[in-house]
Amino acid sequence: MPPQPHPVRASESGNVPRHVAIVMDGNGRWARKRFMPRVYGHKVGVEALVRVVQSCADRGIEHLSVFAFSSENWKRPSDEVSGLMGLVLVAVSKYLAKLAGDGVRIRIVGDRSVVSDKLRAAWREAEESTAHNTRITLSVAFNYGGRWDVVQACRRIVEAGTPPERIDEALLASHMAMSYAPDPDLFIRTGGEVRISNFMLWQTAYSELYFTHCLWPDFGDTELDAALAAYARRDRRFGEVRDSAPVLAVAPHAEG
Ligand code: FPP
Repeated sequence: MPPQPHPVRASESGNVPRHVAIVMDGNGRWARKRFMPRVYGHKVGVEALVRVVQSCADRGIEHLSVFAFSSENWKRPSDEVSGLMGLVLVAVSKYLAKLAGDGVRIRIVGDRSVVSDKLRAAWREAEESTAHNTRITLSVAFNYGGRWDVVQACRRIVEAGTPPERIDEALLASHMAMSYAPDPDLFIRTGGEVRISNFMLWQTAYSELYFTHCLWPDFGDTELDAALAAYARRDRRFGEVRDSAPVLAVAPHAEG
């Protein structure tokens, strides 16, 4: 076996991401492996999320953004969709006080126009009761899609009567749903699939991507630290050339 790189803890190197985005995939498979309904996997997935928020805050991460329900998830079987909606209501009543007490600010991003009044009220309560918290911001993307986000930003810019020559990247960024947060430094997807699936398309342009086979309900400190260690080893250049970039060994040119 080739020598493995020394694992660098993010806290040792000081290279902790400010913003981590996670696609929490694998809940359904986790449940099926246990002969349980898929919604049970989502329920245990919420428990994993509550633990991971705490772990991220402990490690100095300022923003955690998670994909809880995509614009495309409406196509799932109706019992799973209604199960997920019900789960959110239960989760808010069960964990809101704990998260609020732990200094977590909760923000919900996505199209709220089609969710129930009850769910909208629960979101509002979660946001208002944690608005003063500063330890970590948890952004829950619900009925969200990266393409929806770009479209809603464009619509608002056009509605404001903005002349085309004033439209640039900074203006568009300031109209995105998560404009209050820096772009994600680290994008994690659990569950073994290797794709972004329409999560924060605009904001992940320079994010470091990390994929793991771990199913979301099993994701804990060990997996989080492995992702942070991988991130700490990455050389982020944002399209530039830096002196610290590794020099590739090139075979010497044979002189004639
Ligand atoms: C993907 O797993 C997961 C989801 C579509 C939902 C994730 C939602 C939660 C963890 C609950 C969020 C709730 C709150 C209150 C934030 P999958 O079902 O696609 O799994 P599979 O790939 O194994 O089928």
